[in-house]
Amino acid sequence: MMQQPTLSHQKTRAFQPHKLSAPRDFIVPTIINEIEDNVPLLLEIGAGKGKHALSFATQNPGKQLIAIERTRNKFEAFAKLATQQNVDNLNAIHADAIAWIVHAIAPRSIAKIFILYPNPEQHNPNQQWLNMPFFEFLLSRLKVGGEVVLATNIEAYMDNAAQQASAVWCLPNIRHHVPIDSERTHFEVKYLARGETCWELTMRKPEGYKTRFDDWHASNVKDKI
Ligand SMILES: C[S@@+](CC[C@H](N)C(=O)[O-])C[C@H]1O[C@@H](n2cnc3c(N)ncnc32)[C@H](O)[C@@H]1O
Repeated sequence: MMQQPTLSHQKTRAFQPHKLSAPRDFIVPTIINEIEDNVPLLLEIGAGKGKHALSFATQNPGKQLIAIERTRNKFEAFAKLATQQNVDNLNAIHADAIAWIVHAIAPRSIAKIFILYPNPEQHNPNQQWLNMPFFEFLLSRLKVGGEVVLATNIEAYMDNAAQQASAVWCLPNIRHHVPIDSERTHFEVKYLARGETCWELTMRKPEGYKTRFDDWHASNVKDKI
């Protein structure tokens, strides 16, 4: 039998999902087990006060969005608006996205992941999303053809992300400028108003893509396939 070439990311230190406890008061939202096969499920990581999540869900009633925010005061502002606006295809989650995704999300179940203006982590680049072993786990949760959309106002963050996307994660990707009239998130509004350039990187999971977590799921998660 011909041996498959090992992708670069499979030579990196592997993430260890079994070592992560579930977030406090963790429950799997009913939507995860009840979602119909033809309804796309999307994730937003670091949703802040939920500006993007609320408008995306409102504009895309045929899609389900799970938006996760770790910081309590931001999440509370987000949750308040989500309750007021009563958008039934939006699930606002207060948790660390890493532990939450490990315990809630099945392999190959997500159509798109938004990471909009993540913390820059300039002094701790190991914590930038594309530098983390967790990124391989995140890719295992994407469907084939699924996308990760990353936006930032920090050129060095974008340069590194684009380099990692190609060289380590072997993902087809496109980098472009965010239009100056875009106002998806509070941070985007702030940066563009200051005249800063914002970049966006869209990465796509190609057919035949393999990770070391394709068959791994937490005990409470049903594997969809
Ligand atoms: C710079 S803010 C951007 C917020 C929002 N996306 C925006 O553009 O307005 C980054 C956010 O990511 C959140 N965050 C960082 N790491 C996280 C994690 N592991 N899980 C969930 N949220 C996280 C932070 O709490 C913070 O609110």
